[in-house]
Amino acid sequence: MQNNIELIGLDPENFWRAMEERRNVIVADSAEELPREYAMNILAARLHPHQQYFIISQVKEHGPDAKSYVLEPDKSCGATECAYFSAGQYLAVYLEIGGSRLWRPYSICSGPAEALQGRCVLTVKRAKDGFASEFILANWQAGTKVVTSGPLGHFSYEPLRDAKTVVGLAGGSGITPFHSLACAIRDGVDDFDLVLLYGSRNSDDILLKEEFDAIAAQCDRVKVVHVLSDEKKAGYENGFLTAELIQRYAPAGDYSVFVCGPRAMYDFLETELPKLGLSPRRVRHELFGEYKISGRESGYAARETNAKIVIRGEERTIKCLPGESLLSAMERAGIAAPSQCRSGECGYCRSRLLQGEVFVPSHVDGRRLADFKYGGIHPCCSFPLGDTAIEVPM
Ligand code: FES
Repeated sequence: MQNNIELIGLDPENFWRAMEERRNVIVADSAEELPREYAMNILAARLHPHQQYFIISQVKEHGPDAKSYVLEPDKSCGATECAYFSAGQYLAVYLEIGGSRLWRPYSICSGPAEALQGRCVLTVKRAKDGFASEFILANWQAGTKVVTSGPLGHFSYEPLRDAKTVVGLAGGSGITPFHSLACAIRDGVDDFDLVLLYGSRNSDDILLKEEFDAIAAQCDRVKVVHVLSDEKKAGYENGFLTAELIQRYAPAGDYSVFVCGPRAMYDFLETELPKLGLSPRRVRHELFGEYKISGRESGYAARETNAKIVIRGEERTIKCLPGESLLSAMERAGIAAPSQCRSGECGYCRSRLLQGEVFVPSHVDGRRLADFKYGGIHPCCSFPLGDTAIEVPM
């Protein structure tokens, strides 16, 4: 009974209704007209803007498959500043590609101190079958206008939770939030030591090497070890990010582990990290990124299905391809559905399943108890098991 009462209170629809009712009651009971803007709301909007409008001021190439883009406020849209952020956070970038309108998360590569000078940097690496990265690398240049979300995510250093030394485990483009964290240490914004083990195939694949060398030369609290899986080279480790390698570089005492990299690295570390014997709060993972069905998932049989989408008072029935999430299917059909992290974490895409069943991989299942009771799903991580109908709140 108690549980039922709590769950009724947790129905997201009840929450939004209650907000509206509360606002109406306040307005009806106020003898004087309420101020339109509160100082606290103005500050909150500056720190957590819904959207940011940038223009690219510089582009730096890192070989043929990666580029860094310096973003500055787009004054022609009235933007005057770059929202401050915690090192390790990301921006969701709005893209229109062909008939698709979508948001893609990219970690901020620069440090928070640079945001106060009115700029931030996104580094984009070509991903295998990367719809968005291919588009960005081919089209973004100096002068391109870019719309993003405000800073998002929780892959940041928290002194009340994390140890004084962080062992960072990075792979591929997963290096970018660590660059932001290293800048924050160098600039005195964050106060911890970072030992970074960065896995790459070979030395040509290493991203941001010069930038990390420069930080390590300026700041002895940042140490970077390159681990090459396909090449043996003096001064570099060879192999994978095993528990044995981590222990060799980790401090003798307490430490935290932060992980950011491709899915294969997460799968590999699933068996390695428990060997370290750390408490769960000492291990933090950055988002998995978009979940790609591998075909090995039990409980999911790939097939084409129909999905009825109710959004902004309109209804459309679209095709959902085998292995495609409901969010990707909506984007492919040109429906501008809300999303940010694409990993089941932020809840921004939360929708209501009206009919049918979906498969949600356990790694990215961010549903809460109330979602199970009231049909809440995250389309970014929901793969239809048959024909479905969903309602997307806007
Ligand atoms: S986009 Fe963040 S939970 Fe779906």
